[in-house]
Amino acid sequence: MVTLPWLFLLLLLQEAKAYSGDGVEPEEVVAALQESISLPLEIIPDEEVDSIVWFSRKRLATVVPGKGCPSSVMMVDPHYEGRVSFGDPSYSLHISNVSWEDAGPYQAQVNLRTSQLSTTTHYNLRVYHPGYPETPSVSSCLLAKGLLLLVLLTSLAVGLWVTRVQKKVKCQGQGGSRGTELN
Ligand SMILES: *[C@@H]1O[C@H](CO)[C@@H](O)[C@H](O)[C@H]1NC(C)=O
Repeated sequence: MVTLPWLFLLLLLQEAKAYSGDGVEPEEVVAALQESISLPLEIIPDEEVDSIVWFSRKRLATVVPGKGCPSSVMMVDPHYEGRVSFGDPSYSLHISNVSWEDAGPYQAQVNLRTSQLSTTTHYNLRVYHPGYPETPSVSSCLLAKGLLLLVLLTSLAVGLWVTRVQKKVKCQGQGGSRGTELN
C-alpha cells in the first residue's frame, strides 16, 4: 500500500514534464528507423532571411540563402554529415537514414536581415522501429494512464478487502479465546 502515493506522484510528475518548457509546444515528427524524414520550416518568401540555424541538442548546421545562387550550408555536427539536406525554398531539414541517436529536440532559428529579431520553431523527433506496428501515441499514452488508474483502484479495493478480512479473523480469534476462558 506504500507504493500507491508514489504512483500518483509519478503520474503528476509525468504531467508536469509534458507541459514544461518555454511555453512552446514542439511540433511532433515521427520517423521510421533508417528512413528519411523532413522537419518542415515555413518561411514567408518576402522576408529577407539572413540565415537559418538548425539545432538539435547542439548546433547542427547554418544555412545562408544565396540570392539566385544555391544557398551555402555550413555543417557543424559531424553526426549528420552527408545525411542532411535543406529544401529550397523553404529550408526544411531533410534527414536520411534516421538513426536512434537522431531522436530528440530540434530547433530552427530564422534570423532576418531587416530586424534583430529571430523566430525559432521547435520540433520533437521520435524514431520508431518499422518492425513494430505503432509508435506510442497520445491516445495509447492516455490508455496506459487509464490502465494504471484501474490497477491503482483495484489494488486499493483489494487492500481494503484484505484489511477487513484480517480484522474479521482477528475478531474470531479473540472470540475463540474468550470462549476458552468461559470454559
Ligand atoms: C544507415 O546507417 C547505418 C548506421 O546507423 C549504416 O550501417 C547503414 O549502412 C546506413 N545506410 C545507408 C543506406 O547509408
